[in-house]
Amino acid sequence: MGWALGIGAALVIAALLYWQLIIAEGAYLGRRVVALLYDWSAHLYDRIKQYDSGYEAQFLGRPLANALFAFPNALVLDVATGTARLACALFPEVGFRGRIIGLDLARKMLKHAAEKTRRWSDRTMLIWDDASQLPFLPDCFEVVACLEALEFMPDPDQVLAEMVRVLRPGGILLITNRIGNDARLMPGRTFSAAEIEAKLSGLALEMVQVRPWQVEYDLVWATKPGFCTPDPPRDVEAVLRCSVCESGITRRDGTLVCGQGHTIPIAADGVVEMARVRKDL
Ligand SMILES: C[S@@+](CC[C@H](N)C(=O)[O-])C[C@H]1O[C@@H](n2cnc3c(N)ncnc32)[C@H](O)[C@@H]1O
Repeated sequence: MGWALGIGAALVIAALLYWQLIIAEGAYLGRRVVALLYDWSAHLYDRIKQYDSGYEAQFLGRPLANALFAFPNALVLDVATGTARLACALFPEVGFRGRIIGLDLARKMLKHAAEKTRRWSDRTMLIWDDASQLPFLPDCFEVVACLEALEFMPDPDQVLAEMVRVLRPGGILLITNRIGNDARLMPGRTFSAAEIEAKLSGLALEMVQVRPWQVEYDLVWATKPGFCTPDPPRDVEAVLRCSVCESGITRRDGTLVCGQGHTIPIAADGVVEMARVRKDL
């Protein structure tokens, strides 16, 4: 009897661990656990995902490049950029001439992102920081994306609100919504198509379109109301703000310094280490 109870308890614990660590990828255990799991697996990420470059171009790179054709100096923000999937789909598109900022909380994912985007390094900025409080001024990006990541955030609504805050009027929001069997095991982090449409409409977005994409994800497009005219070239520093005090940032002697004197290091691989100055991470 005792051994049967022991086996039962072990099976329950194994099932819980599988759910929390493999399916939910630490999502209910806090953002540090999520980042730690991605740091551990960063060297395997691309091999596990096996993104097909033709498929990526067809569904991500080309539609975004077409949408940005009239914006030669477009700024694109990729929240939870991982190993720079979006940049690798968008930069090869001849119609795209803008810049991409990729932000992620897993430092080792960004190390790989830096290697993969080296040939476009003059048009890329990678930032180590948390998505729940984006270190940017309002209304500054023509596109804000977040692919295969919203469900791992402690508060997806807060991240969505932040993404909309930094999106320019007339700009495009591009996100994924997890679907399929595993989505049912992530309550509060995944949504039906109707729920995600209602969330984005509630954030005053327009033209919300939920499109089937992969087995596990729908792709969701939406537009922020208003109109944006093409801008002259902007330094990416011009859209940054300090994660501690929210003041503006300038580049000084290989680091970034905010108006209140917080120094944000830039690592040897070029990653802006905003997470180092944040006390809440
Ligand atoms: C499945 S990967 C997706 C990466 C990339 N967008 C892609 O489609 O390949 C999820 C990413 O979300 C990042 N992430 C999770 N929670 C985060 C947070 N709170 N802030 C920033 N990034 C986060 C992880 O570090 C990881 O790189």
